[in-house]
Amino acid sequence: MKRLNDFELIDPFALKGNVFEMLDKEWMLITAGDKETFNTMTASWGSFGFLWRKPISIIYVRPQRHTYKFTEANSTYTLSFFGKGNQRKALAFCGANSGRDVDKPKETGLTPVCTPGGGIAFAEARLIVECRKLYTDDIKPEMFTDVGLETEIYPTKDYHRFYIGVIEGCYAKKG
Ligand SMILES: Cc1cc2nc3c(=O)[nH]c(=O)nc-3n(C[C@H](O)[C@H](O)[C@H](O)COP(=O)(O)O)c2cc1C
Repeated sequence: MKRLNDFELIDPFALKGNVFEMLDKEWMLITAGDKETFNTMTASWGSFGFLWRKPISIIYVRPQRHTYKFTEANSTYTLSFFGKGNQRKALAFCGANSGRDVDKPKETGLTPVCTPGGGIAFAEARLIVECRKLYTDDIKPEMFTDVGLETEIYPTKDYHRFYIGVIEGCYAKKG
């Protein structure tokens, strides 16, 4: 599998762009696993922040996702961003199909690459964020202060598991 050749390591503090746009409009692929076995899925719910003196991301994965098995089993995950409007068909595909049933890289044409931390991301990305899990927990119904939101988002009680991960590498496409 290829490595991240045409990317440069950048400081997360030097990240440009609006995080809300990146998540809600650009979307991302969350990928966990290694070159032997990995899975990826589209996500738009997430967070970037600063916690425990570290730059962090938070991802939210429902337990029925195939990706969940991989975020559980691995110590790292990557986030791949492709630029607004880019790879829309591929992102829609990875957000509507499960790695249980399809080979997502094969079906989308996206090229998996090994990241320096041993994870997997995609060569077509404009930005790859590699994170190491620090903390995980589940969204709990009894903790909602806005009860209506709980019934709206979780009618089938499939509460997300969230992972807080320290950002160990940010890789931006050169040029
Ligand atoms: C735009 C978009 C955003 C999504 N965001 C999330 C998310 O944040 N968390 C989640 O668990 N699923 C999210 N999904 C759903 C998964 O991507 C989808 O269920 C996918 O097929 C799971 O694949 P898997 O079974 O291979 O893991 C999103 C889907 C789309 C299209």
